Amino acid sequence: MPKVLVTPHMLQRAPGPYLDILTAAGLEVVYPPEGVDTLAPGVIGKILSSDKIEGMLASTENLNREVLSKSSLRVIARMGVGFDSVEIPAATDLNIAVTITPGTLEVSVAEQSIAMMLAISRGIISRDKDVRIGNWARAALPRLSGKTFAFYGLGRISRALVPRIRGLGMHVIAYDPYCDANYVAAEKIEVVTSTDELLRRADVLSLHTPCTAETANFINRDNLAKMKPQAILLNTGRGGLVDENALVEAMLGGKLLGAGLDVFQKEPLPLDSPLLSVPNILLATHMGGIDDESQVAASSLAAKCIADCYRGEWPEVCVVNKNVKSTWKW
Ligand code: GLV
Repeated sequence: MPKVLVTPHMLQRAPGPYLDILTAAGLEVVYPPEGVDTLAPGVIGKILSSDKIEGMLASTENLNREVLSKSSLRVIARMGVGFDSVEIPAATDLNIAVTITPGTLEVSVAEQSIAMMLAISRGIISRDKDVRIGNWARAALPRLSGKTFAFYGLGRISRALVPRIRGLGMHVIAYDPYCDANYVAAEKIEVVTSTDELLRRADVLSLHTPCTAETANFINRDNLAKMKPQAILLNTGRGGLVDENALVEAMLGGKLLGAGLDVFQKEPLPLDSPLLSVPNILLATHMGGIDDESQVAASSLAAKCIADCYRGEWPEVCVVNKNVKSTWKW
C-alpha cells in the first residue's frame, strides 16, 4: 500500500474527512515522528529519504530539488493555495505532480484581512490596553467608509475581499497586469496601470500576489515613501513582498497609521525581529487561510487530489505544473 505523509500540524493523528478519503482510496497514511517539526531546516529531507513516501499532504515545508530528488514522491498536495515552498521546475523534471486547493480558503483570508484592517483603523488593541491600565484616552482615528482600498494583485483572494470591502462603503482600486478582463468589467473594478498610482491613492493597501522576482520586496523604502502618511498596509499574501527593515524604518519615522502582517520573510517570526519594536504593527501567525471551515475543505481537497492521482484521475484544476501530465505516472 503506497504511503502518504501528512504534515500539517492540525491534521497529525487527528481523524477527519482527509483521512477517510486517503484510506478509502487504498493509501496508507503516515505522520512525522511525534514532536518533530517538519518546517525546521533539514527535517523533511530526512523523513522523505528514509522511507518510501509516494504522496505528501504538505504544509509549507521547503521541498527543493535536493529534497525531491532523494524522495520517492509521485504527488505533493499542498494544503493551501501558495506553492512557493515547492521548487516547481524540479518537481516537473522529476515527474512529481504538485497540487493546491483553490476555492477552499479565500473567504478565510478575506476575513483575516478585514479583521486586521478594522483592528488598526479602530485602534482595537491599543484601546483595550489603555482601558486595562486606566488610561481613558479617546483620540479619534480616520473612518474607513468613503476611503480607497487598493489591491496589489486581483486573484482569487482579492475577489473574495471585493464585496466585503464594498460592504464597508470603501472604493476599490487594483493593480494587476495579469487580471481577468471579464471579471474587472463585470465587477466594475477601477484598475490602475501603475504601481505609483496604486501606492499614492491607497488609504488601505492590501498585498495579494505570489512572491516572484517581479513582486519581491514591493514594499520597500521607495514605495513606502509614495504612500499616504495615514495609510494602512495589509499583508496576508507572502512575507517576501515586504522589505521588513524598510517598513520598520518608515513606521518608526511616523509613516503609516498601521500595518497588519500575517506573513513574514522568515516564519516563525524570530523574536529578535525589528518588527516587534513597532507598536502599530499588528502581527499574526500566518493564520489567514486557516479557519474551521477552510481547514476541513482544504485538507479534504488535498487528500482528494492525491487519491485522484492514485486512481489515475488527473485533478486538472488543482495541478500547478500542468505540463507534467504527459509523462506523469504513479
Ligand atoms: C497559505 O499561505 C497558503 O499557501 O495557502
